Amino acid sequence: MKKVKRIGVLTSGGDAPGMNAAIRSVVRKAIFEGLEVKGILRGYEGLISGDEIIDMNSRSVSNILSRGGTILKTARSKEFMEKSGQKKAADTIKKNGIDNLIIIGGNGSFQGAQILHKEWGVKNIGIPGTIDNDVGHTDYTIGAHTSVDTALDAIDKIRDTVNSMERIYVVEVMGRKEPYIAVMSGLAGGAEEVLYPGGELDIDKMTKEIKTGEKKGKISWIIVVSEGVSSAHSIAEQIRNKTGYEVRGVTLGHIQRGGSPNAPDRILASRMGAFSVTAATEGRSGEMVAIQGNKLCLVPYEKACFEMDKDKKLHAELYDLTKLLAT
Ligand code: F6P
Repeated sequence: MKKVKRIGVLTSGGDAPGMNAAIRSVVRKAIFEGLEVKGILRGYEGLISGDEIIDMNSRSVSNILSRGGTILKTARSKEFMEKSGQKKAADTIKKNGIDNLIIIGGNGSFQGAQILHKEWGVKNIGIPGTIDNDVGHTDYTIGAHTSVDTALDAIDKIRDTVNSMERIYVVEVMGRKEPYIAVMSGLAGGAEEVLYPGGELDIDKMTKEIKTGEKKGKISWIIVVSEGVSSAHSIAEQIRNKTGYEVRGVTLGHIQRGGSPNAPDRILASRMGAFSVTAATEGRSGEMVAIQGNKLCLVPYEKACFEMDKDKKLHAELYDLTKLLAT
């Protein structure tokens, strides 16, 4: 096995709080192991262009542990989906003598990582970083805890005005196909309803519940809706038209991607970053670092990318609990 002397690190796809903590951990663990580190800017786009490679040392990652976003920048690369783009990326890796590439990103990024590993012989290890928690075979992805905290902070603030003005609010959270943020922030925020991908969307049933609730003295409602289901404003309008009540829609949007990572995300990122370097020095490739029951392990990209229904049952259970507790 060729000894690993130099590794690369990049972030790809939507940024997530804690990506910087992961970069810091990768860089400092690698330096500790006597490796050289190259940082690639703007994800696969930077690999394709070939001139966005920087040398990294312990000082390059000073004071980033608590910062949101990613100092390496990130992108969603269309060109990388083409063979020509992949070739350019693989050439950049070879030209820069990178023996293993650490890729911090989500599902889409790992499908690209798998292609680099399988078709272009580029050794790489993935670290799951996305607010959506939509990667298979890992309990958590970096950023998921913080984004739920951010959504919850907003829901708590909205609750103050909901209670004061006796209104109905529909709060739209992120997660195109993934229920995680909606279900978790809904439960933690005491939502009266959660509309999440894979769940039920029945406006008539919901308006009946609102009316029954009113008879029992329940005069304020928060409905959390995942962006993958509908928009807050559309749901608000439909309920308004059916009930005549004052209903407001709020879209939280990209604020859920920003901000300082919370403690669970910093800890997870620090653990996963160091683990990825160990995996790289052991010659591993085509796998992602995962956390299962608080233990780190490696899972093949196929599983991480295509076996993502891990929490379906849990989401349904938590939804039922949210409804029970909101009565
Ligand atoms: O990174 C994940 C995510 O924030 C999803 O929750 C959301 O649907 C999507 O990215 C938004 O992507 P963009 O920032 O490209 O609009």
